Amino acid sequence: MAQPLKVGLAGVGTVGSAVVQLLERGRDKLMARCGRGIEVVAISARSRSKKRGFDAGKFRWVADPVSLARDPAIDVMVEVIGGAADPAKLAVETALAAGKSVVTANKALLAAHGQRLAALAERHAVALNFEASVAGGIPIIKTLREGLNGATFTRIYGILNGTCNYILTRMEQERLSFADCLKEAQQLGYAEADPSFDIEGHDTAQKLAILASLAFGTKIDPRAVYSEGIASIAPADLNAAAELGYRVKLLGVAVKTPEGIEQRVHPTMVPKDSAIAQVMGVTNAVTIDADGIAPITLVGPGAGGEATASAIIADLADVARGVRTPPFGRPAARMTAVRKAPMQHHEGGYYIRLLARDRPGTAATIARRLAQQKISLESIVQRHDAGSRGPAQRGRSEQAVPVILITYATSEDAVHKALAAVRRDRVVYGRPQVIRIERA
Ligand SMILES: NC(=O)c1ccc[n+]([C@@H]2O[C@H](COP(=O)([O-])OP(=O)(O)OC[C@H]3O[C@@H](n4cnc5c(N)ncnc54)[C@H](OP(=O)(O)O)[C@@H]3O)[C@@H](O)[C@H]2O)c1
Repeated sequence: MAQPLKVGLAGVGTVGSAVVQLLERGRDKLMARCGRGIEVVAISARSRSKKRGFDAGKFRWVADPVSLARDPAIDVMVEVIGGAADPAKLAVETALAAGKSVVTANKALLAAHGQRLAALAERHAVALNFEASVAGGIPIIKTLREGLNGATFTRIYGILNGTCNYILTRMEQERLSFADCLKEAQQLGYAEADPSFDIEGHDTAQKLAILASLAFGTKIDPRAVYSEGIASIAPADLNAAAELGYRVKLLGVAVKTPEGIEQRVHPTMVPKDSAIAQVMGVTNAVTIDADGIAPITLVGPGAGGEATASAIIADLADVARGVRTPPFGRPAARMTAVRKAPMQHHEGGYYIRLLARDRPGTAATIARRLAQQKISLESIVQRHDAGSRGPAQRGRSEQAVPVILITYATSEDAVHKALAAVRRDRVVYGRPQVIRIERA
């Protein structure tokens, strides 16, 4: 019988503890599938005395994750500490340089240093596997990197942050405000005390940068991702979306355009009957468009100890079998610089919600400004019913009428210019709400 694969586990929090438990539960099955066992031989974390969901006393304790990384008794290090900085970064570098494969769930580290770490892994002929870093339990990395090796990708888009999808789902279902749903998500443990990383779209942007790199062979560059969060979404937008046949989701979208790769994260209207629109609550989903292949959508748990540990164990199984794939699906030296398609050239349909001044000439002014930018409208809805008028217009000399416009395909630049002109004309109150529409 082959020697078991010996694992050093750096980090035994939510994910690390689940890795220990799942490896114990799946021992026989993994032995049968890989032809050898997979055993944790040493663990490392901040606090030795903290109570864990498993008997930590059974494992050798190594106080410093970097020492664990060079420990001669381990074959592979699982890094589930998190963060782009040390000790996670140094531990991963040390393990790779010592000729040990690394399995990590750390999107922040990969987004910041992925290409360099991939080169280091190649130089030492070891694996760097990171299935758990994007969309938790959904095997999206393997799907892009291996399962679709023959495909030419044109667009990847997905719901990559469960917190945001939970908030948008609750806002739609219960007609609650963003603030109320955020509070609820925090009480349920779906959102952090400081939720900004999730709700401003940065978490999705890091994950999207990794997926874009795998799909388009580019260097990972989170700075090339345009990001907008969900805090500006109001129940009025979700109601209007529902009436017009859409749902609002925070999507990460990477698409190949003639000008380069567009990478963007923003609230998005998707047709209500599309696969991605059915994904509710904390669930994640990714849709892959490739030439000549009907779209493929993977749906599943994007976080949680067990789901994430399942992805880590799949990566460990590859190492146990001796399977080694270039981390980003091609040699690191062949990852090309991102040619970033400028966001102002983005083309698509737009949802625009304006609070128009109820006086003669307003509609004509708005229509003229849109026409000047060659924007045509698919629909226009004016709500004269009292119920749709918010308290915001109280005390104003003229009534404010919510107007919802859906445009045919146009450019980001045209929409911005038209709306800036409309605001200068003083025919609307406040800042218009703009949500991009995605074909799905
Ligand atoms: N949680 C999820 O659902 C999920 C899903 C996908 C990906 N991930 C990724 O998985 C990684 C781990 O997440 P998690 O939720 O398991 O985090 P966590 O519960 O906070 O656990 C982090 C672990 O790292 C240890 N640690 C932190 N700083 C350390 C330091 N300076 N030196 C040594 N050990 C240190 C902690 O030690 P103590 O226990 O002693 O404090 C803890 O054991 C992150 O990269 C995260 O983005 C998580």
